[in-house]
Amino acid sequence: MYEEIIKQLSDRLSEKRYIHSLNVAKKAKELAELYGADLEKAYLSGLLHDIMKETSPEKQLKLISEGGIIVSRDQMMSPKLWHAYSSAVYLRDYLKIEDEEIFDAVFYHTTGKPDMPTLTKIIYLADMISEDRDYKELPYLKELSYKNLDEAVTAALEMSIDFLKEKGSYVCEKTTEALEFMKKGKKDL
Ligand SMILES: [Fe+2]
Ligand SMILES: [Fe+2]
Repeated sequence: MYEEIIKQLSDRLSEKRYIHSLNVAKKAKELAELYGADLEKAYLSGLLHDIMKETSPEKQLKLISEGGIIVSRDQMMSPKLWHAYSSAVYLRDYLKIEDEEIFDAVFYHTTGKPDMPTLTKIIYLADMISEDRDYKELPYLKELSYKNLDEAVTAALEMSIDFLKEKGSYVCEKTTEALEFMKKGKKDL
């Protein structure tokens, strides 16, 4: 199975994004080991999370609707979010990886969502701390990722909201709700 996936990735993605996918998979597996998630599911989700990122928006929209996926208007507001939905559909319907946890992890890897399962948190984070990333807060987020998954996810959500706001980009409601949920959970402890 991996042979076919690697071929698909190298056919569909630029070298840069292909390497990014391998890095996210590696990081996801490390986090899964640390936080007791399924190693293979983590690796696979990491490999495939961006598989549709360089496919045309038209094809992505077609995949999403043919996959019977109903996303809110808010979730469709930014075309940058579409690859998460189309990649999830692609791995389920075309690569026949029929696993709800993997689907969810890929589907929400860009926005997050409230009450994320562990695998979804891991992919969200692995995407932000993979070897090919470079930003000011990265060393801090990496360190936190190995100490406390929930605190790291909370920090990562805060960082991406700040980053999007600074750029004047659209912030999906799911991301704001995800952060609220993480903060509420912390207070309830
Ligand atoms: Fe992505
Ligand atoms: Fe990514």
